[in-house]
Amino acid sequence: MQAFDATRLNWPMDWTAVFGRSAPLFMEIGFGNAQFLIALAQRHPEANIIGVEISLPSIKKAERKAHNLGLTNVRVVHGDARLTLWGGMPPASLTRLYLNFPDPWHKAAHHERKLINGRFLHLLATRMVAGGLLEIATDDAGYQEHIAACLEATPYFTSTTGETFATEDNERLRTKYELKALAEGRTCHYYHWQRNETTAENLFPTPQEIPMPHAILQSPLSLAEMNERYTPQSYNDELPIRFIRLYESGRDRALLVETHVAEDPLPQRVALFIQGRTTPNEYIIGLHEIGFPRPTVGIHHAIAHLARWVIGLDERTVVLHHNLASQLVS
Ligand SMILES: C[S@@+](CC[C@H](N)C(=O)[O-])C[C@H]1O[C@@H](n2cnc3c(N)ncnc32)[C@H](O)[C@@H]1O
Repeated sequence: MQAFDATRLNWPMDWTAVFGRSAPLFMEIGFGNAQFLIALAQRHPEANIIGVEISLPSIKKAERKAHNLGLTNVRVVHGDARLTLWGGMPPASLTRLYLNFPDPWHKAAHHERKLINGRFLHLLATRMVAGGLLEIATDDAGYQEHIAACLEATPYFTSTTGETFATEDNERLRTKYELKALAEGRTCHYYHWQRNETTAENLFPTPQEIPMPHAILQSPLSLAEMNERYTPQSYNDELPIRFIRLYESGRDRALLVETHVAEDPLPQRVALFIQGRTTPNEYIIGLHEIGFPRPTVGIHHAIAHLARWVIGLDERTVVLHHNLASQLVS
């Protein structure tokens, strides 16, 4: 079993092709030492099971365990659960979602790192089938109140028991954190909820890749002159975009612009280039392939900003061609 990288998933993934069969799709988020994930795969040979983890040692552990047991119905994704759900999961594809002992992030400054909130439940609602089961467990007193409030407020999930949570569940497979919490005498809270029939507007459309964004300009300036005039830039129109640093790449006759594109669900730090063409004074502006960038709409906007920056340096600049998602000159 080869782990997937969350930043490199197809948008969306064809999980039927990955598993080589069509079957109910389960997901566990933050599987830690993979004890629960592996036991789940053994208990449910009829399901295709995906584990998502940001910790690489956990990914390696799961791979090793699944390999040693010869399990063919489990795959792991290394990276962020939100990105995996938003990009990698087709709408209405998951029949079960498990979240065991998510990190509680106590400090007020870290509050927004909590995985569970109204927006996350909405995202989940768009990726789960009606009737799909949502199982959450926590041993954290603060987080348990937060989870209860989020579940009670969401229109998209309904408790399967009529209660917000239970404090005992003897049917379930146990996790490492759970066994530790129980051994130390902490109460665990178990939430058994279900995706209901309420339609969830898809505020999280599958991201799109638009191939080969580029613009070709004619400018009287040399690359060295552009370099001299460079200062860091930031934009906040469609989404936050920052040009951080500019490097000169003499060998390629190019300038590389380190750029941050704060786009959901995949913020990217990429290199854009301004490269001299064989025809004098012609430049192509595009996305360098360094670091597996995804040519999203946000990247198109970033290249458009860079092209506009070059155009703004000299009024004699002419746009010869572009395929960008936005206008270069008004
Ligand atoms: C407190 S541990 C619980 C581990 C395991 N579920 C258990 O109960 O023993 C939380 C786990 O969630 C993982 N995690 C945290 N945020 C995540 C995210 N955004 N996406 C995927 N995994 C995440 C962490 O790496 C960690 O392994």
